[in-house]
Amino acid sequence: MVSRVSLSHQRRNASSSKPRFSKHNPYLSSHGHSGAIPEPSSPSSTYAPSRPKRLVVGVTGATGTVFAIRLLEILRELGVETHVVMSKWALATGKYETPMLDADVRQLATHSYSPRDLSAPIASGSFVHDGMLVVPCSMKTLAAVRTGYCDDLISRAADVCLKEDRRLLLAVRETPLSDVHLDNMLHLRRAGAVIFPPVPAFYTRPKSLDDIITQSVGRMLDSFGIHTDGFERWDGFDWKSKQMS
Ligand SMILES: Cc1cc2nc3c(=O)[nH]c(=O)nc-3n(C[C@H](O)[C@H](O)[C@H](O)COP(=O)(O)O)c2cc1C
Repeated sequence: MVSRVSLSHQRRNASSSKPRFSKHNPYLSSHGHSGAIPEPSSPSSTYAPSRPKRLVVGVTGATGTVFAIRLLEILRELGVETHVVMSKWALATGKYETPMLDADVRQLATHSYSPRDLSAPIASGSFVHDGMLVVPCSMKTLAAVRTGYCDDLISRAADVCLKEDRRLLLAVRETPLSDVHLDNMLHLRRAGAVIFPPVPAFYTRPKSLDDIITQSVGRMLDSFGIHTDGFERWDGFDWKSKQMS
């Protein structure tokens, strides 16, 4: 039996009503947490309604559902509108990997859809949003996006991001990687996607699996201009205390 990861959603909500992640978030004003994007000053803004930052999150059946849960917890705290799709295999692996139920994960989302619903708003380029993260991203979904064979909502929404030139981050997870996997990643990187295997950084001296998950998710959000302060960032060597030369 795999050991259970401690999920801090309930704990954090119970212990503090203040968002831990708001400090450096450019989308949150100091007066509240509406998440509204400031109006651009260009003349075209006359027709651009103010709306919250809006992200699409696809969760597939690679191991690592905990990354998606932490991502949704943080986005919820930040007041970011989320549109979430979980694949059939994400639900299967999720049940095994976390104590949270499908319904608990969906509760973290603003909107959630069935992966079979190709009529959902996020299946169309005319539904405007600020990008998509597939966390974790299986090799199957990677291959679907690479080939443009998109017969489920996750791969379709990712395909839409590419065609609309929107940010697409794929938290690819497999090991070891075959020629096919690597070739698919390189192809999609060249098509504009961010290839983001959730590989831990140890220079932050993580004390727990929780720290590792939060750091990885924080770095994913950096890609979307959402800079959270819930994890340690590298600030150079501490030459004096470590007496390095
Ligand atoms: C416990 C478990 C762990 C898995 N881990 C991975 C993984 O890390 N990477 C991967 O590409 N597939 C993994 N798979 C296989 C995918 O779930 C499978 O390829 C599935 O078809 C992916 O479909 P989806 O992309 O629609 O979720 C795993 C399956 C199970 C049951």
